[in-house]
Amino acid sequence: MPPRAWPVRLSPIAFGGDYTPEQWPDAVRREDVALMREAGVTAVTVGVFAWAMLEPAEGRYTFGWLDTVLDRLAEAGIAVDLATPTAAPPPWFSTTYPETLPVARDGSTLGIGARESFCPSSSRYRDAATGIARRLAERYRDHPALAMWHVNNEYGAHVAGCHCPESERSFREWLRTRHGDLDALNEAWGTAFWSQRYQDWAEITVPRVAPMPVNPAQQLDFHRFTDDEFRACFRAERDAIRELTPDIPITTNFMATACPRMDYWRWADEVDVVANNHYLVAEDPEGHVELAMSADVARSLNDGSPWVLMEHSTSAVNWQPRNLAKAPGQLRRNSLTHVARGADAAMFFQWRASRAGAEKFHSAMLPHGGTRTRVWHEVTALGSDLSALREIAGSRVTAEVGMLWDWESWWALELEYRPSIDVTYLDAVRRFYAALWRRNETVDFVRPGADPSKFRLLVVPSLYLTTPTTAAVLRTYVEGGGRLLVSFFSGIVDEHDAVHPGGFPGPLREVLGLWIDEFHPLPAAAAVHLDPAPAADTRSRLRLRATVWSEEVVCEGAEVIWRFADGPDCGLPALTRHPLGAGAAWYLATRPDGEGVDRVLDLVLADAGITGGRTPEGVEAVRRASPLGSYLFLVNHGPVDTTVPGGGVDLLTGERWADGVRVPAGGVTVVREDRTADGDTHR
Ligand code: GAL
Repeated sequence: MPPRAWPVRLSPIAFGGDYTPEQWPDAVRREDVALMREAGVTAVTVGVFAWAMLEPAEGRYTFGWLDTVLDRLAEAGIAVDLATPTAAPPPWFSTTYPETLPVARDGSTLGIGARESFCPSSSRYRDAATGIARRLAERYRDHPALAMWHVNNEYGAHVAGCHCPESERSFREWLRTRHGDLDALNEAWGTAFWSQRYQDWAEITVPRVAPMPVNPAQQLDFHRFTDDEFRACFRAERDAIRELTPDIPITTNFMATACPRMDYWRWADEVDVVANNHYLVAEDPEGHVELAMSADVARSLNDGSPWVLMEHSTSAVNWQPRNLAKAPGQLRRNSLTHVARGADAAMFFQWRASRAGAEKFHSAMLPHGGTRTRVWHEVTALGSDLSALREIAGSRVTAEVGMLWDWESWWALELEYRPSIDVTYLDAVRRFYAALWRRNETVDFVRPGADPSKFRLLVVPSLYLTTPTTAAVLRTYVEGGGRLLVSFFSGIVDEHDAVHPGGFPGPLREVLGLWIDEFHPLPAAAAVHLDPAPAADTRSRLRLRATVWSEEVVCEGAEVIWRFADGPDCGLPALTRHPLGAGAAWYLATRPDGEGVDRVLDLVLADAGITGGRTPEGVEAVRRASPLGSYLFLVNHGPVDTTVPGGGVDLLTGERWADGVRVPAGGVTVVREDRTADGDTHR
């Protein structure tokens, strides 16, 4: 895979945020530019929700204010990520063309006065959005500030799909293209069930509120359709812009782990560079682990090349039940963790806190209290840090562990009527991710069907929807020497949510060397325990605890490593290993707690020959490397100063660490590592 190019006019490490001059008088705008310089801001996103200010009436454009803003930014040497304002159609548009408003599943029309009120299938909306995008490109194609295009904003974040008549017509067309004829659709959707057989395309509807769950294959196709429709909106704007500015990279901002609706593998094929937004769930004590996961997904979507952290927050957000402010130092740890994990930008929502509107309690780089605030001081300090880290730009993160990540399987897994509501996709992924994070084992996420052979270990958390193609890739991987770890409720259905013939785990049966007689999900709050097999004497028993799931595994070649010590499958396999070709496939038939996952990984990582780099508890270590050097990022999430083995030059303080690198409590240290005589770095 050729590396993706970095947007050349966006200096690395880009530092700045969403800038909304349209909310402020000119005196404030002037002050903005001066303060941006003071903070070391290098780039801002302009215009994201400014449609009404740019086109106050149909066909009447008012670009003057934006001309001045861009000119001032250019003069100050600040690059612009110019947004198309199409995520917020103005009231004149929605009231003139009410058919462009999205319709919810219950048939109610979503109103105006917020944002994202557009139907992705509306041709009227698409034409208008493409029109304003083209106007912007015509006007600013040669503007010296223009560094990158930012189309729309977080497609699909708030509208789960549109159920209006135009969407329904497009859905039928989409289904014709996908299935060809009605017989094929009836077959794929299993419409013999509950008398759902369709005789005419006109009978097919988008999923509506119904007395019972709507056909799951229909719902899954509707998910795919919605994702495709939003992407078609993106493509229409992108192509219009690209025609006029072929050399300026174009992106849109993703919500890698936070938007279950978009298949970002497909989106990543469409953008020039991946841009990601991440917001901590403030009350999650392990939010920093989830942050790391989001960053690793973003990097993986960008094929491992440096990506853009388009938004995160300096402190509290405004949309959680309790919006906790970040503690002193947390902003720095958060931002530099994204950078450690491959971002060559640390951008925020937003530059200046809004006085009015729904987001006035959202933090910003420049808070309501101005430059005397703690956040402002932390922001300016971060600006200096990022400038000191310039030499790491372009360096890449490498990982020995891959983890399969699949949005389609996520959609299917969480439809109604599953064996247990306690099985959720993010939980399945995050358990393994967190255990790998605790050992500083960096993870790359892998697209289903992609070749995973560069990884020593591939983890496949609950891949409910497994296609024969994905299963074949996994088998080839193991036969070629890879170590595979698959967790329960994988290999269950095909792309139409139909159970694979022959029972569970369908196309994974041969690679795992087992089959499953029956699922035995556990009652809420119930636990089972796990022991090594054959059970040793009681003193050496593991007695690990697991919840949510148990099942009856029958081995067909796999060896039993652990057994259930109690519960519905007492005495039966809980963890197995199947040697196959030059590799081995492991299977975990339950959901162990944190310690249990750690013990599983002890075995599987050792089997894969991965030794890892342990650090004191709570210290996160990630490496980026380039021909210029190897850079070790150490993030101390704990309350005590600590020292990590190694040495090198501290890029943030200039200090030389000879015998151990010091990482202050709650702090971050970045070292250019010393090389040993044979060119290796210390580990
Ligand atoms: C993001 C969005 C921003 C802002 C932010 C608040 O999802 O892109 O425009 O609303 O959330 O946290």
